[in-house]
Order: sequence, then structure tokens, then C-alpha cells
Amino acid sequence: MRVVFLGPPGAGKGTQARRLADRYGIPQVATGDMLREAMASGSELGQRARAYVERGELVPDDVMLAVVEDRLRRPDAERGFVLDGFPRTLAQAEGLDDLLRRLGRRLDAVVLFQVPEETVVRRLAGRWTCTACGRVFHESYSPPRTPGVCDACGSPLVQREDDRPETVRRRLAVYAEQTAPVVEYYRARGLLHPVDGSQDPDAVAEAVEAVLRHRVEVR
Ligand code: AP5
Repeated sequence: MRVVFLGPPGAGKGTQARRLADRYGIPQVATGDMLREAMASGSELGQRARAYVERGELVPDDVMLAVVEDRLRRPDAERGFVLDGFPRTLAQAEGLDDLLRRLGRRLDAVVLFQVPEETVVRRLAGRWTCTACGRVFHESYSPPRTPGVCDACGSPLVQREDDRPETVRRRLAVYAEQTAPVVEYYRARGLLHPVDGSQDPDAVAEAVEAVLRHRVEVR
């Protein structure tokens, strides 16, 4: 199964990608998580990415394409993957097509999470992420049992720097300018499957499953 999850910041891509990856035993390739890990480790990639991520801007395409190529060439991605947060520009979408061609693979589906802007703003304002295992919570919609502590591993939860209201506004504008054309790119290729991402997480997961079942049947 080779799937792309598309949608605005806070649409629930990461929440659903983690579920799908766990269910099918395939890697969740989340470019935002990979950049945050690189920033935390102080690597060259992290140092280069930091200024872009903190402003809510996109990291340059050539950097992201190299990161994703390196990840998809690892053996655990041979059985499939869910790409979460990539591609985000037309150049990245074209680069991914070229990479998959070279690897002799094809995408099965692109799932677009549709969520109204006021909902994503509320979701990001209340998001808390585990510093150790990356599990994501929401203070109202999916609160941890103990505030500030991860249910899964007991580590502290933090709010993301780029979830400040002014950076969220910039991220939404960047999505509208640079990622919306990617939606049309996949629609034109018959791969796009919109899903109502404003439902509760179980209902969204069921909608994603229905799309993927259908794609696998017609393959
Ligand atoms: P990235 O980390 O990819 O951020 P994003 O795309 O903005 O997406 P988010 O992680 O904010 O949201 P999500 O859709 O995963 O929602 P989540 O499941 O967490 O990218 C960050 C930055 O890195 C970018 O700005 C850019 O600088 C850089 N970058 C990354 N990829 C790049 C690329 N390809 N090219 C260039 N630059 C790149 O859910 C949000 C909240 O809502 C959570 O609290 C969750 O619990 C809650 N929630 C989720 N689903 C539901 C639901 N159904 N009902 C109620 N609450 C829900």
C-alpha cells in the first residue's frame, strides 16, 4: 500500500497516518516529524530547516526530495508507506513521480482531508505532542489521562512552536498558495480521494479504510 495524505495543517493527517501505519505494518513517512527530529539533534538538515519551519514556510524542494528519497529507499518501505505532509508543492509531486518510476513503484491513492479553517485553528491551538514517542493529543478532543503526560510512554507533552496563532495563519496561507495545486495535480491523475476530516477520529479512519479497500479492489 502506497498512500499520500494531503490536507491543511491540523487536518488530522498525522493522527490518521499513525493509525494506518500501525494497522498495516508500513512506515509513516512524516516529513514534519523528520525535520523536527533533525532540528532537535542539531544535524545539518535541522540547522538548515529551522528558519523555514519556525516561520511556517516550506523547506526548499531539493532538500525535501533528498530526505524522502533516502527514506523510501530503506528496506521497510518496500512493502508500502504512508506519506504524511509530502508532497506539498508541484515540484515535490513531480519529483515523487520520478522517484517512484526509478524505484519501479506506483502510488495507490491520495487521501485529501477536508476540514474547515476554524476547526483546524482550534485543533492546533489545543494540540499537545509527546517529546519521546511523538503521540499526539488534544486538550479537549482527545485529552491525555493526566494533563501534560503521555498515556503511551509517560513522557512530558509539549506544544509545537509553529502552533502559535500567527505562525498557523502563515502555514494556512502557504498551504493555499503552494499545496492547493498539488490537489489538482492528483485529481487530474484520478488518484484523489477527498474525505471529511471534521468527523471524530474513528469515523475519519473508517472513511480512509473505505477509500483504500476500494483502491485495492480496483487495482
Ligand atoms: P508538518 O509537521 O507536516 O505540519 P502540517 O502539515 O502543518 O500538519 P500538522 O502536523 O500541523 O497537522 P496534522 O494534519 O498532522 O494534524 P494532527 O493529526 O497532528 O510540517 C511542519 C513544518 O515542516 C511545515 O510548516 C514546513 O516548514 C516543514 N515541512 C514539512 N514537510 C514539508 C515538505 N514536504 N516540504 C517543505 N516543508 C515541509 O491533528 C492536529 C490536532 O487535532 C491534534 O491535537 C489531534 O489530536 C487533533 N485531531 C486530529 N484528528 C481529529 C479529529 N478527527 N477530531 C478532533 N480532533 C482531531
